[in-house]
Amino acid sequence: MKALTYHGAKDVRVEQVPDPVLVQDDDIIIRVTATAICGSDLHLYRGKMPALKHGDILGHEFMGVVEEAGSGVKAVKKGDRVVIPFVIACGQCFHCLLDEYSACETTNTGKGAALNQKGIKPPAALFGYTHLYGGVPGGQAEYVRVPKANVGPLKVPDALSDEQVLFLSDILPTGYQAVINAGISKGSSVAIFGAGPVGLMSAACARMLGAEQIYMIDELQYRLDFARGAYGIIPINMKEVDDPAELIMTQTNGRGVDASIDAVGFEAKGSTTETVLTNLKLEGSSGAALRQCIAATRRCGTVSVPGVYAGFIHGFLFGDAFDKGLTFKMGQTHAQALMPELLEHVGNGLIQPEIIISHRMSLADAAEGYATFDKAEDDCRKVVLTP
Ligand SMILES: NC(=O)c1ccc[n+]([C@@H]2O[C@H](COP(=O)([O-])OP(=O)(O)OC[C@H]3O[C@@H](n4cnc5c(N)ncnc54)[C@H](O)[C@@H]3O)[C@@H](O)[C@H]2O)c1
Ligand SMILES: [Zn+2]
Ligand SMILES: [Zn+2]
Repeated sequence: MKALTYHGAKDVRVEQVPDPVLVQDDDIIIRVTATAICGSDLHLYRGKMPALKHGDILGHEFMGVVEEAGSGVKAVKKGDRVVIPFVIACGQCFHCLLDEYSACETTNTGKGAALNQKGIKPPAALFGYTHLYGGVPGGQAEYVRVPKANVGPLKVPDALSDEQVLFLSDILPTGYQAVINAGISKGSSVAIFGAGPVGLMSAACARMLGAEQIYMIDELQYRLDFARGAYGIIPINMKEVDDPAELIMTQTNGRGVDASIDAVGFEAKGSTTETVLTNLKLEGSSGAALRQCIAATRRCGTVSVPGVYAGFIHGFLFGDAFDKGLTFKMGQTHAQALMPELLEHVGNGLIQPEIIISHRMSLADAAEGYATFDKAEDDCRKVVLTP
């Protein structure tokens, strides 16, 4: 089959690789009908995540049709159309029973990314996301082996197109978890840092839950313009406004927003020093977006962090967070817990995730898709690939 494989920073290729086969009796093989490139894939593409090997197949947002099912698979059968969560979870361990699927203790053969582990079990395996997360072949391919098929795959109705349901695999539940973690409800005010796909899904979900004021901060004007049209956000372009948090304070009676969402992560721009130190690996992550979140949030408010972080940040200002009595919530998304409810919302038209798609390409052109998304060229918001 053909698959998108990693060969080093900015070097991904669509190559001929062996077809996947069933390994465990609760595996399925799916024929991929649609797959997307995630901002998390960009961290890999830029060579910022360790533990990738030559030839690893990337991709964790995908869906398709069940081609083969192991003897222990009861939840789906050959011919079913399914969307697959990016998190691989057993459904039976301590954390899975608490609906904390991305903390599943049994699926990851890697060691996770935490530095000070003290023997803790790693979090769940992820598709196509380095050997720290199990080295599981990803879904930017013609076929994928899906482990734990009784827990993850969600059957989707024929009435909904691939584009309508594809983002249930990751960014839609991620945006939803971000706003739930932020405590958004009717009348809330929120500042969303980052107008990439995760920020856009957060804006969509914040609107769905009745947020009143949604500030959105980015340096890419075309993404802010789209979000203003689609979700009525108040745009702040960080290229024009030096300190977005300060502007937000002046517009919220000097108090700040109820919650901030960091949909940027460890490659946040805005501090040249931190960007250089992060590139030299003297700093784990850039704290530029997190500091803005802390500064923009009102006392006793919440900072919700779907953006991915790694290692240490020297300029974290934990004292400011304490002084303001902030709550922090973060982490990989417990996708399985949120997908059924979100599928209903997509089905009844409450949310239309597909409107963010800007590029539709063939899997064969996936390398070009990565380059376009990475450089934010051609007003790229989200790339969907079809094998
Ligand atoms: N928690 C999860 O389970 C989960 C799931 C999916 C993605 N993610 C993470 O979410 C983050 C965003 O993903 P995406 O797909 O939207 O990626 P993306 O790279 O397309 O979007 C990031 C956006 O942030 C903007 N940006 C950069 N620095 C900024 C700053 N200081 N302030 C405000 N905006 C800034 C960029 O211009 C870009 O538009 C990534 O870190 C990704 O790994 C996490
Ligand atoms: Zn992702
Ligand atoms: Zn588990």
